[in-house]
Order: sequence, then structure tokens, then C-alpha cells
Amino acid sequence: MVHVNLVKKWMYVLLAFLVVLTICLWKETRKGYYFSLKVESQTEQVHMTLWKWRIPKQRNIQDKAVNDSNKVFWSTKVSQVKIKDNISGTQAGSNLVSKPKKLADFIKVWNKDSSSKNLTPRLQKVRKNYLAMNKYHVNYSGLRNAAKLSPEKLLCQLRERLNFQMIQSSDGPFNTSEWKAYLPRRNISMELGQLGQCAVVSSAGSMKSSHLGPEIDSHDAVLRFNGAPTKGFQADVGDKTTIRLINSQLITVEEQKVVTDPQYNTGTLIVWDPAPYHANIHEWYRKPDYNFFNSYKHYRNRHPEQPFYILNPYMQWQLWDILQENSPEDIQPNPPSSGMLGIVLMMHFCDKVDVYEFLPSKRQTDICHYFQKFFDQACTMGAYHPLLFEKNMVKHLNQGTDEAIYTLGKVTLKGLRNVQC
Ligand SMILES: *[C@@H]1O[C@H](CO)[C@@H](O)[C@H](O)[C@H]1NC(C)=O
Ligand SMILES: *[C@@H]1O[C@H](CO)[C@@H](O)[C@H](O)[C@H]1NC(C)=O
Ligand SMILES: *[C@@H]1O[C@H](CO)[C@@H](O)[C@H](O)[C@H]1NC(C)=O
Ligand SMILES: *[C@@H]1O[C@H](CO)[C@@H](O)[C@H](O)[C@H]1NC(C)=O
Ligand SMILES: *[C@@H]1O[C@H](CO)[C@@H](O)[C@H](O)[C@H]1NC(C)=O
Repeated sequence: MVHVNLVKKWMYVLLAFLVVLTICLWKETRKGYYFSLKVESQTEQVHMTLWKWRIPKQRNIQDKAVNDSNKVFWSTKVSQVKIKDNISGTQAGSNLVSKPKKLADFIKVWNKDSSSKNLTPRLQKVRKNYLAMNKYHVNYSGLRNAAKLSPEKLLCQLRERLNFQMIQSSDGPFNTSEWKAYLPRRNISMELGQLGQCAVVSSAGSMKSSHLGPEIDSHDAVLRFNGAPTKGFQADVGDKTTIRLINSQLITVEEQKVVTDPQYNTGTLIVWDPAPYHANIHEWYRKPDYNFFNSYKHYRNRHPEQPFYILNPYMQWQLWDILQENSPEDIQPNPPSSGMLGIVLMMHFCDKVDVYEFLPSKRQTDICHYFQKFFDQACTMGAYHPLLFEKNMVKHLNQGTDEAIYTLGKVTLKGLRNVQC
């Protein structure tokens, strides 16, 4: 008898414990987003896996920027969650779309006047925190949307104010005989030649099931980002890679993978690194965001035949200034996304650029990458990068139709060399 009572008691205790646990877990998952940090754009393919172990330990810190060995990360509650099959547009997403009059009512595409007010409270807070943090010491004092430029004027600004050069052996700290052996001998214009029709393929989750592969591969040149794979995804993203734009974090933190994975060994590589605001090459060389120079050399030793360039540090902030000038509010004082950098690079090299899923199509999803199962709204809306404002600009410059955005996620931009200024 005594025995049975004891067992019963324990059963109740166990049951109560389970109930409490269930309630706690349920509350946790409702608190918000699952995965967020120095969150990258759809196209900003910092491997999410790469971030996992860099996430600060303070798991309960919510919406608060924290230092992690002097690097600033964005941390919210972190847990990996398997994606549900059916994630549809979010509320903030639907605030950000406009209904073009001419088209059927159901077509909704990015509104070029989207403002930070359209962001969820969490992402609004993130933006404010980055503004307060000002990691790159931005002291911008120029215009703010004095008059929104026409697309033609904006194209001229991009053409005239952006420095599209890669680091050369005549550039300051790179003018040693050692660096001369590592930097490609031919400049990138010679290497690529004048390109005609180009495609920029974002790594957004919405590339999945797009069946855009053949269309993408029909372009003369294709730019991809970071670790975005083609193998196994050809039907949706195509097979051709002419340029791969990678960030310094990827090559530094995943050096071994980048050096050995054959997918990086196709086409021309360009690496970029966030620099202090308008730093010159010397200042940047002393204080890169990620000290990728040895990894770069390592890669060059292993693949000496492949053209591999280092983007000059000027372009990112020249582009940032133009984004800020054309936005009515303060944009995040962090460099533009790889996505935006890749877009303007291709506008420089090509006659015409089709950009896929930078502006979300009807397949819009919070899944960050077509090849991974993480999701976060920040991947579409931006947290670290001023992605919202980049998208406004790209929408403003679009020469294609809203229908193409809606159905294909496709934006068509004019090559800068064809712009009359
Ligand atoms: C972050 O790091 C910087 C520089 O190391 C330091 O000055 C600052 O106080 C730190 N902030 C927090 C919130 O720990
Ligand atoms: C996905 O969700 C939408 C509405 O949220 C619903 O209409 C649709 O049937 C769902 N699809 C699947 C496959 O569950
Ligand atoms: C911004 O900072 C730089 C370097 O710290 C300085 O040279 C420049 O004058 C500053 N500009 C403004 C507008 O304060
Ligand atoms: C490298 O460039 C610096 C200026 O940026 C110059 O002072 C130096 O003499 C140059 N060194 C060589 C070896 O050309
Ligand atoms: C690239 O190199 C070629 C030949 O060496 C030269 O004519 C051209 O001006 C260079 N282009 C740039 C952008 O430096």
C-alpha cells in the first residue's frame, strides 16, 4: 500500500513537472525569432552555420546588441528550429507592399517608399541599436533626401561616385614584392571583358521552387554570393558561375572549406571586407573587420590560376552615402549588404543586369537561404545591413515590370556604361 502511494505521488510530481516544462517551452517559442545575429541579407550569404558558435552565450538577452570579443553581434533568443512547411508572408511584409493599379489586385510587390516604421518592433529596435552603436564611426553630414533623385540621376551618381577598382599592387600597403606575387596580374576589366546580359542570383529562400535555373543560365555572366551552391539546386538557381562575391568573414572563419570546396574554384572570386567609414587603404589594412589577408594568400597558393580579387574598401561607403542621401531617415551605419555590392558591381561590368529575388516574389519567405533551413525575417528586411533602403533603391531603379517581380522575383537594371550623364 505504502509503495503504491509513493509511486502515485511521484507520478503526480512528474506530471506537474511536464506541464510546467511544456508551458515554458511554449512561451519561449512565442517570444519571437529564432535565429538572428549580425543578420545578413537574403544575398548576404554568411553561412548561418558559421554563426552558430559565434553567438554570445547570454541566451536570454533579447534584442540587445552585445560584444563578443570586440565584435558586435546581434543576438536574440537563439535556437535552431526546423522550418515548418508553410511559412507565409508576415504582417510587416504585407505592410511593405503596394498594389500596382494596373495589375490584378493580388499582385503585391516591394514598395519603394518603405520606411523603418514598416518593420516589426524587433527590427525597429535593432536598427536603433545599430544607429546608437555606430561601429564604423560614420560621421555623415551630407544631404538627406533633399529631393529624391530620378532613376537617371541616381544611375549617374552610381556611375560617377563609386570606385569599382580592385586592390592592385600599386596600392599603398600592397606595393611590396610579396603582395605582387599574390595579386592577380591582369586587372578585372581585362579578365572579364565587357559583359552583356548578366544575372545576379540572391541566395534567398524564395529561390527555392522558382524553376529559374534555365533562365539564369541563359545570361552571359552570373554572379553568386558566398557559399551559395549550384549543385543539387540547378533547376532553381542554374549552374553557371562567372563571379562569386564572398565576404572576408567566410574566407577567414571557414578558410579550410573555401580552399578545398571545388565550388569556389569556378569563375572569378572577389572578396570584400567592412572597413571603417571612408578609411583609406592603409587605415583599413591595419584594421580590417576580419583579418582575411593570410587566408587570401593561402587560397592563392592553392589556386594560383583562378582570378581572385580584393575589392577596394572605398566602394562600400561611397555606396552607403548614396543610399543615405536618398533615404528620408537614418539608415543603419553599417556597410551595404553583399547583395547590394554585387548588384552595383554587375551594373558596372554589364550592359544589363537581371537580379533575382533581391526584391521578394510571391514566393517570399522568412527562410534565409535556399540551401539552408534557418529562418528570420531580418534576412528579408535587414538588421545589420541597411537592406530595406537598398531594396527601395533597387525598386526605384527597376526597368522591368511589377509582374516580373511578383512572379519571378526579377528586377532589371541598366548597365552603368550605357547611362548618359
Ligand atoms: C563593447 O566593446 C567596446 C570596445 O571593446 C567597449 O568600449 C564597450 O564598452 C563594450 N560594450 C558593451 C556593452 O560591453
Ligand atoms: C498554407 O497556408 C495558407 C494560409 O496561411 C493556406 O491557405 C494553405 O492551404 C497552406 N498550405 C499548406 C500546404 O498547408
Ligand atoms: C569625419 O571624421 C573624419 C575622420 O575622423 C574627419 O576627417 C572628418 O572631418 C569628419 N567629418 C565631419 C563632417 O565631421
Ligand atoms: C608603397 O607605397 C607607399 C605609399 O603608399 C610609398 O611610400 C612606398 O615607398 C611604396 N613602396 C614601394 C616599395 O614602392
Ligand atoms: C586594365 O589593364 C589594361 C591593360 O593593362 C588597361 O588598358 C586598362 O586601363 C586597365 N583598366 C583599369 C580599370 O585599370
